[in-house]
Amino acid sequence: MTVTPTTTLAPLDSAALDRALLAFGQSTMLPAAAYTDPAVLAWEKRNFLAGTWACVGRTEDLSADDGGRELSQRALMVGDIPVLLTFGGTAGTAGTAGTAGTEAVRAFANTCRHRGHELLPEGGTAATRAITCPYHAWSYSLEGHVIATPEFNEVTTFDRTRYSLVPLPVEVWHGWVFVNATGTAAPFAEHIGALDALVAPYAPDRLHLRARHTYEIAANWKIVCENYHECYHCPLIHPELCQVSPPTSGDNYDLPGAWVGGSMDLAPDAVTMSLSGTSDGEPIPGVDPRTVLYLGLFPNLLISAHPDYVMTHRMVPLEPGRTWIECSWYFPSETVDPSYAVDFWDLTNRQDWGACESVQRSLASPHFKPGPFAPNEDAVHQWVTMLGRAYRGTAPHHP
Ligand code: FES
Ligand SMILES: [Fe+2]
Repeated sequence: MTVTPTTTLAPLDSAALDRALLAFGQSTMLPAAAYTDPAVLAWEKRNFLAGTWACVGRTEDLSADDGGRELSQRALMVGDIPVLLTFGGTAGTAGTAGTAGTEAVRAFANTCRHRGHELLPEGGTAATRAITCPYHAWSYSLEGHVIATPEFNEVTTFDRTRYSLVPLPVEVWHGWVFVNATGTAAPFAEHIGALDALVAPYAPDRLHLRARHTYEIAANWKIVCENYHECYHCPLIHPELCQVSPPTSGDNYDLPGAWVGGSMDLAPDAVTMSLSGTSDGEPIPGVDPRTVLYLGLFPNLLISAHPDYVMTHRMVPLEPGRTWIECSWYFPSETVDPSYAVDFWDLTNRQDWGACESVQRSLASPHFKPGPFAPNEDAVHQWVTMLGRAYRGTAPHHP
């Protein structure tokens, strides 16, 4: 296993982190500052979002605009680093993810090599074959090579081959695009570890997006993850969920990779997670028809794999107490009515967001003290251990 040290330690109280890093049964939640302090979020943006492998979306969403027009470029922030994705360049060179038959996805620093202007503003897109800087019109190919540098023809010492865009590591995994914006993360295969074997049977790249909701909630992104990793709260806030999946069922994994997760069983008379327990879809071939997997890939993608659909939550931390969440539902059929799954999970999501926002409000209180984990909060403990170690500079793989 490669351990990649991060450059600085997180600005958190060391004794409080020590307590969070104790063994299961003795440890506590992270200190309040981890959820409320802008300095911690700034550190996380650089070291967790930019510094590991952040999920930035699906290839088909990133490479087209809302009207379905094919794009060649899209600018976005990965943590605190501006990134430019390009699509449709020639495959097989540095900074490329893609396999034969698929269009190449590349990632570059969204920083012009002349005097640093952004090539596109954050959120901007383009469909042209060249990347043209809006400041002095240097232009680059989709592979990042300089094409034109106005007025430099007379500069005999100027060597344009030295001014290619800075390529960044990018990977496409089952249709999701991951970027390491600092360029310093451990290899993607180590980051994913054993998760691939659990997700691959669902073949998510062959499923069809049939619904998407976005939420902006008043809670830290880690509270969403911690809430996701336990069903201790289910009997109190999710009566509908408990009808179709016994909250004490299932088990958690302890396998290599920067992720935490487990499974839960369906109730005997339920075939999926829906308000009635019935499905309007079709089974995904080759997966366990009685189990739902809940997999949280560090830092920002939650994958919930059902017998007949896959749901994801992709998070973007906005402020210490504010998170943007994109919830997407993927099905084997292109024409299925997804409402049976969407109605169930939208209700459950909103129940969860209410709890997360309540916790966030209390974290700002001077009376908050990190509490202990219950026996069935072992996955939360795994998650907190992964975070606590990463705050101290260890790459977030399981040991
Ligand atoms: S900063 Fe991009 S061309 Fe000058
Ligand atoms: Fe929940």
